[in-house]
Amino acid sequence: MKCLSILLICLSSFFSKNIFSQSVFITKPYLQIGHEGSPNKLALLWHTADTASEWGVEIKLNNRWVRSTKIYFNRVFIKNYQPFVVYHATLQNLQNGKEVSYRVLKNKVTVFESFAHSPKSKSQNYKFVVAGDIGALTKNQKKLANVMFDLNPDFVAVPGDIVYGHGLANEYTTKFWPIYNADNNDSTGAPLLRTIPFMASVGNHDANDRDMDKTPDALAYYYFWEQPLNGPYDKEGSALLPILKGSESNRNAFYEAAKNAYPKMTNFSYDYGNAHWTVIDADSYVNWSNKELQNWIIQDLKKSSKAMWRFVMFHQPGFNSSKAHFEEQHMRLLSPIFEAGKVDVVFNGHVHNYQRSFPLTFIPDTMDESGARVKIKIDGKLNGKWTLDKSFDGINNKKPKGIIYIVTGAGGQRLYNYEQTNLPNSWQPFTDKFFSTDNTISFIEMEKNKFQFKQINTNGETVDSFTIEK
Ligand SMILES: [Fe+2]
Repeated sequence: MKCLSILLICLSSFFSKNIFSQSVFITKPYLQIGHEGSPNKLALLWHTADTASEWGVEIKLNNRWVRSTKIYFNRVFIKNYQPFVVYHATLQNLQNGKEVSYRVLKNKVTVFESFAHSPKSKSQNYKFVVAGDIGALTKNQKKLANVMFDLNPDFVAVPGDIVYGHGLANEYTTKFWPIYNADNNDSTGAPLLRTIPFMASVGNHDANDRDMDKTPDALAYYYFWEQPLNGPYDKEGSALLPILKGSESNRNAFYEAAKNAYPKMTNFSYDYGNAHWTVIDADSYVNWSNKELQNWIIQDLKKSSKAMWRFVMFHQPGFNSSKAHFEEQHMRLLSPIFEAGKVDVVFNGHVHNYQRSFPLTFIPDTMDESGARVKIKIDGKLNGKWTLDKSFDGINNKKPKGIIYIVTGAGGQRLYNYEQTNLPNSWQPFTDKFFSTDNTISFIEMEKNKFQFKQINTNGETVDSFTIEK
């Protein structure tokens, strides 16, 4: 019996090694909006152990396979982790709104084929999903991946906490790629990432772990994602960025893997269709009371004046009625800047439920009760005066006076404060809707001057809806 067990262990080890060595990809190809953020391009990334092969990417244009741009790669050679390579290609000359077939070739042999949704133009209708706090490897995360796929969106926006619990490369392997880039739409997940790009802001679970000795594969966001690099830059130890900890060799391994994506890629803006997106890092190491950082948002929103819609996305909500994370109100500080910049909707996560505010404007207190100047506490309370537009209902009155703040942090992780769903007395005055009895995602259909919003649960049912019209 003992001999049989040893034989079985040996056989299984032999086969698992063989399967790994025969596999072309460590992570199958997935789409990103790219460092350029161009309306006619998408980035395509994949991970492999192999650097010796010749790789190619082709797209089908006018019924002919055409070679894409130059491919480059970054080596990820971090401690305690099997070395691998992240390849980056660009699908270019995309025709807005059209599906485009693409294929990946290794040594001139096609090893992967799919289609992609090309970005929509300013005049085309489009659909997108927003869902935060997702990579938790729960049954509901997978069900919501199926729901997203059935809705056929053009992209998915993730307002932080992409993978739990530390943003590690290893966690992406189990909790992210297999669910959002599954081969089929089934109980394991859905083939979303190979057909549409995801866009993300970082959350505390993605970017708070910065000791490369404790977790050498932390901050994997910087080498797994390819998003625009048009945000503010500053050194480690500044208002924007903490100092990376760990031995020189471990830190260098991270810098080498992340290349120019670090540190810029956590704050950026991006235009999709008729909307401008400002995506920022609200983690507690960023000091948004810093005037230079504020000025970047002010200028970014000014430059977006030709867009019909303006959306802002970050992780920690300023306006939250849940008992969980209630005191983390520091992002309220930026409300006057968002209002001056004519922002329509702010999308947040962090709090694992769904909340919709009344359209509101907010003036932060500059003096406290004793008359002393208010000091902004990172992760602390921030009192002030809000003005609520209670005449807006999104059905008969579709013209909000103020910004609508959406908490959509129920994308997969266990829910917070379900008991508050039916206790409106426990909500803050600015909260119009609160739902925490099922995991949910936000689904938005954009039709020129219309923003049609639905919050959808794991059964595909709508639990809240409203429309904004311009
Ligand atoms: Fe969070």
